[in-house]
Parts: sequence; structure tokens; C-alpha cells
Amino acid sequence: MPIKLSRQIRRIKPSPTLAISAKATQMKKEGINVVNFGVGEPDFNTPDYIKKAAFKAIDENFTRYTPTPGIPELKQAICDKLLRENNLQYKPNEIVVSAGAKAAIAFALRAVCDSHDQVIIQVPYWVSYPYQVELAEAEPVYLETKIDNNFKIEPDKLEALIKDNPRAKAIILNTPGNPTGTVYTRSELEAIAAVCLKYELVIISDEIYEKLVYDGSEHVSIASLSEEIKANTIVINGFSKAYAMTGWRLGYLAAPAEVASAIARIQGHIDSNANSISQKAGIAALQEDDGSLEKMRKEFEKRKSFLREELLKTPEVKCSNPDGAFYMMADISAYLKNNNKGITCSEQLCTYLLENFRVDLVQGSVFGSDDYVRFSYANSMENLAEGAKRFKEGMLSLRS
Ligand SMILES: Cc1ncc(COP(=O)(O)O)c(C=O)c1O
Repeated sequence: MPIKLSRQIRRIKPSPTLAISAKATQMKKEGINVVNFGVGEPDFNTPDYIKKAAFKAIDENFTRYTPTPGIPELKQAICDKLLRENNLQYKPNEIVVSAGAKAAIAFALRAVCDSHDQVIIQVPYWVSYPYQVELAEAEPVYLETKIDNNFKIEPDKLEALIKDNPRAKAIILNTPGNPTGTVYTRSELEAIAAVCLKYELVIISDEIYEKLVYDGSEHVSIASLSEEIKANTIVINGFSKAYAMTGWRLGYLAAPAEVASAIARIQGHIDSNANSISQKAGIAALQEDDGSLEKMRKEFEKRKSFLREELLKTPEVKCSNPDGAFYMMADISAYLKNNNKGITCSEQLCTYLLENFRVDLVQGSVFGSDDYVRFSYANSMENLAEGAKRFKEGMLSLRS
């Protein structure tokens, strides 16, 4: 008799980016040169000083279970970092180290949400947020944002949405954002925080891209705005993007002690602790610096400006001007409304561009915004130039 899956899991679809990226991988295997704009991780290696700390941990047999919320030295290093870089004062018992920021968000949602609760997510959103909310048995509620406003949440729209959805318990805020690259300024965060406090919304602040900000913009953690806001916020961060450590699976959160302790209880029963070796590497990442982070950041900054200029050469494509992360959204709605191939959605457009112009993009529908496609610039300048050229050719081929 086949195993019948739970109702909850039947609602969770496989990652929608998979079909197109599987096709792109297959094409590459067949020797076809595909330019990949779909990458969700830095195209740099983990810096050597971090790798050395991991080798040392293995040599010293630091290979056993650790305390569930993380080893004390790492938790202290995280507290020091939060104070130094984010003006946030946390104690080690307010930190939980997890196997990636993804796990931290998932456990935070479970700790905060009851089954009738709603969680506000801005659109376009990072693909996992809605599913993570659903896995916590809560209900996602969507707040639309627009390219003309750099995909920023407008406080009055947030307030109106909360009024319409009185079960809203939390909001996920992501700055710098994926897929938009949006970085909120201090005053924008103050306005959002005021609404959250008024309606007692818990803020889950995903700051995983904090190190990747460009053109003089600054990352501000919403929790640093006041003690009152900090008491209402769970700060999420990790090592994947800033230190090119996606495979190490290391993230963390900071929250009021009771909340952190509840989250640690959940983690303790699901995956115990983050990898012991990665935790030692994480200490080195936070305490040392060989200049590679700034080198990566500068390279991304250069690529962003270059790619944007190239994409704007395609007529009728609007392009966001992000200040952070390594993503850019392009508005392709003019082509969806009018093209000679009968294409009606971003997924069909991405499939067409991949099959005919060998360029791999992520369709906006997976981020809740079908009018867009997402470009990642975690790729060499040479590939970005070639990819933008192919994109333009592909788009022009759709014009009647
Ligand atoms: C917005 C956002 N949050 C969290 C994560 C997860 O990061 P981690 O590798 O630490 O689990 C990602 C990864 O793509 C992301 O884009």
C-alpha cells in the first residue's frame, strides 16, 4: 500500500525554480554554452582564513555534538559582531546558532505562530517564505510592492493590510532583499517599525545579505532602532552570502532570551545543533578579516552597475536599481502583453529564452510577481555581458 502523504506536505510544491534550472543543467551537460543568471550563491570561494579554522577543528577532533544553541565562543563572537556592526546589544543566551539562516527562520516561525495566525510577506518575496509560513501552520498574507518604488513596503499600505487581516501576528522583513536587492533606509525602517509596534506585529528581520550593500548605502537592522522594537524582533543572519559559505550551513538568530530559548527547544528536537566544524569556522569568519569580503563586495558593486546598464539597452524592459544582495528584477510585462510567440507568463518566457537563446533566468512567478524575471549577478563580467546580449536578442525576437 503506498504511503499517503500528509495534507500539509501536499500543499508544499517542489521548488518552482527547479524545472527550468534542471533543463539548463541538462543543456550544459550536453555541452551547450548557457549563461546562468539563476545563481543564488556567491561565485567566490570561502576565504582561506575561514577554511584553516575548519581544518584545525577537524585535526583537534572537534567533531561531536555541541550545545543546541551553539558553542559559547561562537555565540560570544556573534554578540560582539552585533554590537560592533549593528549597534545591537545581545547576551549569549539570546543567540541561537543554526544550520543556515533558513533553519533559523523556519524555527522562529514555529516558535511564534499558532495555526490561526497570519504572517505578512512582501511581494516579490524570497521563494521559501510562503512555504516556511505554511509549514509553521500559519497563513501567508501578501503585501504588494512596485518597481517604481524600488519594491519598498509603504507604511500606509502595511497598515491597511493589517486592518484587513486582524490575525496578522508577524511580518518577515528582508533587507537587503532577495529577489529585489532592495535596501531599506533608517527612516523607512522607522516608519515600518512604528506600524509594527502599533499592531504588535513580531518582526522577523532577515538580514542575510547585510554585507552586500553598494554605492554608499548602509545596512540598518530594524532591531537597532529602539529597545521597544528590539524586544519585538527576531534578527536572522548567517554566513552563506557574506562569507561565501553556502555549503557550510551556518546561520544564527538573535531574539529576547525567552524566544531564543523556545527556538532552541524546537531546534534541539529537529536537528540538534549546527555542524561543529562550521561553528569553529564561523568564529574565524567573525573575528578575522583578510580583505576578501570587501573584495567580493566591490566586485558585486561593479557587476551590478554594469548589468543594469546592459539590461536597459533592451527596449521596454524596466530594471530595478538595487542597493544590495546580488539580484536585480527586470519588468518584462510589455513583452508578456504583446509578443509574436503567444507567451503569456514569465515561466514561458524564461523557457523560451533558455531554449532559444541559452540564457537561464528565474521567472518572477516564483517570487509572486509574474511581470518580472530575476537576474543574479553572481557571475563573471564576461558572462554578464554575453548573457545580457542574449537576453536582448531574445526579447527583440518576440516583437512583432
Ligand atoms: C533572503 C534569504 N534568506 C535566507 C536564505 C538562506 O540562507 P542560508 O544559506 O543561511 O540558509 C537565503 C538563501 O538564498 C535567502 O536568499
